[in-house]
Amino acid sequence: MEVVILEDEAQVGRAGADAIAEHVRRDPAAVLGLATGSTPLAIYRELADRVGRGELSLARCRAFLLDEYVGLPPGHPESYRAVIDREFVDLVDIDPAHVLSPDCGATDLPGACATYEQAIAAAGGVDVQLLGVGSDGHIAFNEPGSSLVSRTRVKTLTPQTRRDNARFFGGDIDAVPRHCVTQGIGTILDARHLVLVALGPAKAEAVHQLVEGPVSARWPASALQMHAHVTVLLDEAAADRLHLKNYYRETYLGKLSWQGF
Ligand code: F6R
Repeated sequence: MEVVILEDEAQVGRAGADAIAEHVRRDPAAVLGLATGSTPLAIYRELADRVGRGELSLARCRAFLLDEYVGLPPGHPESYRAVIDREFVDLVDIDPAHVLSPDCGATDLPGACATYEQAIAAAGGVDVQLLGVGSDGHIAFNEPGSSLVSRTRVKTLTPQTRRDNARFFGGDIDAVPRHCVTQGIGTILDARHLVLVALGPAKAEAVHQLVEGPVSARWPASALQMHAHVTVLLDEAAADRLHLKNYYRETYLGKLSWQGF
């Protein structure tokens, strides 16, 4: 696991875009894994700028969202599909038809989860997966107690996550759905490269637990310790509780010139 501590969100945005661009340079038809929420926005803006300047093209890429709320009416502006369209898909040159999200309008939700797993497998798996982390340690919507080998399924959001996400619903926790469909931790660990991003002091304990704590369903993000290629991009505040902060800084500054992400 590579832990990279950067000064601010803008630097994190550039580093996250670099990590994705490296994959697209190697394979212009790379399969991208997209996270929603506020953390990846700087990365999406940076990618959009690079596409706008003609330095990068995502035209041949395909993409899969991590998760989606259950129970929002179709087209709701805070559905994760609407958010990713607004914040990313509409700003780059990826084909919207090649961006897939779990079908939470399906009457057979378990069937829709299985179909989603099959679609990821049929695409050859995810090359680079962006991840945020919840203040309670969730990745995607795998809340504490999630099986570390879980696949795409329906989950119940914790009150903490619903409180955290109420800011997207006018501050009204009752407007935040209780259920979601989320890729499982096993699904996420199948991606070839995981790029987890965390910003701000509210994420500091989750970051400490995921990087330095025991692997435990109590902090689902700690499952990333079992993956061979993980990049953790942090601002100073999110890195604040890391015990080995100085070692991570020294390692990053001393990287060999040919070592990318
Ligand atoms: C979103 C997702 C979640 C968020 C997490 C952090 O697709 O999978 O795990 O990454 O809740 O959200 P923000 O970035 O809004 O703090």
